[in-house]
Amino acid sequence: MRKPLVAGNWKMNGTRETVSALLDGLQTGLSGEKELGNKVDIAVFPPAIFAQQVADALTSTAVSWGLQNICTEEKGAFTGETSVVMAQEFSCTMVLAGHSERRSLYGETDADVAAKVDRAGQAGLIPVLCVGESLEEREANQTMEVVSRQVKAVLEQASPASLEKLVIAYEPVWAIGTGLTATPEQAQEVHASIRELLAKHDADMAARTRILYGGSVKGSNAAEIFAGPDVDGGLVGGASLNVQDFLSICRAAD
Ligand code: PGA
Repeated sequence: MRKPLVAGNWKMNGTRETVSALLDGLQTGLSGEKELGNKVDIAVFPPAIFAQQVADALTSTAVSWGLQNICTEEKGAFTGETSVVMAQEFSCTMVLAGHSERRSLYGETDADVAAKVDRAGQAGLIPVLCVGESLEEREANQTMEVVSRQVKAVLEQASPASLEKLVIAYEPVWAIGTGLTATPEQAQEVHASIRELLAKHDADMAARTRILYGGSVKGSNAAEIFAGPDVDGGLVGGASLNVQDFLSICRAAD
């Protein structure tokens, strides 16, 4: 049985004050719902600069945290980057790799993303590999072609050891931050195909890998999307900035 995971991607949002309010809300909300943390893994991805604040607030809660991006180099002259070792200094246990905004705005290639998954996984972090097609690609019936290419690049390049804890997030680019969501059927179809692809590579891996859905997940649509047998939770952007919305999405994954 795969334990569902709901993760909040805060993107480049927040001030000390709003982050503090969000963390307080999470602590308070979850202290009244201890069971939820046993049934659903919950995680947040804050901007790296808030890692200490997040670690201070969440250390004795059921919530894990991670970074939105990682450098594959260990240290040195890489201005603006954050290493895996630095992430671990702040008790990060997860890292996003290949979010569509990193791919489209910062030119990350499949090979770059695979290297990040490998680096994070080798260090014992949980890599959350993000994949998904654009609207043009969906309309041209290229969804699985694109998603397969993105997943295969990682299966081919990353070491098997780095994929032990791999999580995949299927996030159709047209659904991210747009208010449009894939229908539960569309999500399940792609998730099942991703799992089939994993099974060709390694049956155990296919059975254990959690595949999250992302793209305008809200309290009102989470339960029906998460009901798909191959949908193991969600990666949540906008709605993760609101404690009540985020908690209701976590409950929907139970
Ligand atoms: P959204 O973002 O929930 O705001 O659509 C999802 C994501 O980018 O991970």
